[in-house]
Amino acid sequence: MPKTDGQIAALGALISNATKVVEGHYARSAKPYVPSLDDTEEHPLDHSLDPELREAVQIIEGACAQLCATLARPSHTVVNKLMSLYESTCLGIAMKFGIPDVLQEEPAGMHISEIADRTGLEERKTGRILRLLATKHVFREVSENVFANNRLSLQLLAENPLSSLGLHFAEDCHPPTTVLAEVLGDDAWGHSYSPRETAFNKWSSFADSLGAFVATPQGTNLATRFGIGMIGWADASQAQNVIYDYPWKELGKDATVCDLGGGVGYIALELAKEYPFLRLKLQDLWRTLEQARTQVWPERCPEAIREGRIEFKAIDFFKESPIPGCSVYYLKNIIHDWPDHDCVTILSNIRRVMKPYSRVLIHEYILQQANRVPDGQAVSKQAPEPLLPNYGVGRIRQYNLDLDMLTMLNSEERRLRDFIRLGERAGLRFKKLWDMGELGLVEFRLPLPSVHN
Ligand SMILES: C[S@@+](CC[C@H](N)C(=O)[O-])C[C@H]1O[C@@H](n2cnc3c(N)ncnc32)[C@H](O)[C@@H]1O
Repeated sequence: MPKTDGQIAALGALISNATKVVEGHYARSAKPYVPSLDDTEEHPLDHSLDPELREAVQIIEGACAQLCATLARPSHTVVNKLMSLYESTCLGIAMKFGIPDVLQEEPAGMHISEIADRTGLEERKTGRILRLLATKHVFREVSENVFANNRLSLQLLAENPLSSLGLHFAEDCHPPTTVLAEVLGDDAWGHSYSPRETAFNKWSSFADSLGAFVATPQGTNLATRFGIGMIGWADASQAQNVIYDYPWKELGKDATVCDLGGGVGYIALELAKEYPFLRLKLQDLWRTLEQARTQVWPERCPEAIREGRIEFKAIDFFKESPIPGCSVYYLKNIIHDWPDHDCVTILSNIRRVMKPYSRVLIHEYILQQANRVPDGQAVSKQAPEPLLPNYGVGRIRQYNLDLDMLTMLNSEERRLRDFIRLGERAGLRFKKLWDMGELGLVEFRLPLPSVHN
């Protein structure tokens, strides 16, 4: 029989050691303390990209969850998992009715009667929703039925792109999950990888893909929320690592970077600020590009427009190639949206306009399996034992996103070998996997010219 054999103590030690690492980072920061959950001031480490800090937190999250799952009665743990959907439901309600914004007017706390008055919700029901959330550390119950914002609920203010992401999940992605089991059990759709035979299609009765839906008038809300929400997503998943960890400076003075399917261009914006010598091209469907051109860039980086450092050019990347001859074709969270044959079309359209110096960078999750393999065979670093090698709950987001892709698009997060295979089918040569922290960056080049004697 498998026994825990010292695993409990080992998990405890992992938590204790990783906590010391985290405390050390805070102690060395400009505000040398770990902020309490009730602290509503921003801390300099709130946007830290430090890899040691990130890994320590992943170990703590993974080890705490694994320790609890090991020690608690199985029925207790499983029932809590079964009921966890109410947390995201309550988060959705809090954002929809703007509760975090209302609470900002009374930082010391507001009674549920006043919150109800301001939001139009019923008083006692408001209290029940906020109490569940306060129990999960979002909001604080200051005194009975009096709630205030805390460090986590402040992330849900309407001005924070995370609230657009949250509303996208709550209103666009969660409802279709209610029919996912039915779709998976369907003889035809359950085995299909068509983007027109998804839980989203079943739930909405929309006959075409989600991509086609966002181009319709009913899809406008979804598209807008999603566009802004991706900024919040990039921050949460520390996508900005790519700005500092990829050698952009080595590309040279006149380098051109095409952010293909770049949405409103969050990464291109960061590149524009950090490397003014880069000539940037943002390409996406015209509707998204209009949002980028008329709203997002004039607000966030007007100097790039003024100085002609950014070009906006609409594209349908299935029907045409991007701007030719760019130094870099950067694709963040594009490949995971599509089934294999569509990915090969996108990559082939890029390959057609590449020059020998061009590179393709795919920035996404590199999905890790949950079983341990000999270290020499692991593509990514494995977590210390006895933690699950993929850091368990510490890296749960990639598996949640994988299921979101399944529900909405019939697509998936992929392993490194899947990316390499897609690249090869498009006539590209795998060059390198760059470790960008939570995400990976897969670099492809044109094949080397063959040598004829
Ligand atoms: C998951 S989002 C990623 C956006 C951005 N790269 C990011 O990570 O923030 C996918 C993007 O692909 C764009 N897209 C979808 N279909 C497209 C097509 N046929 N041609 C060009 N862009 C498309 C969408 O408008 C959206 O901005």
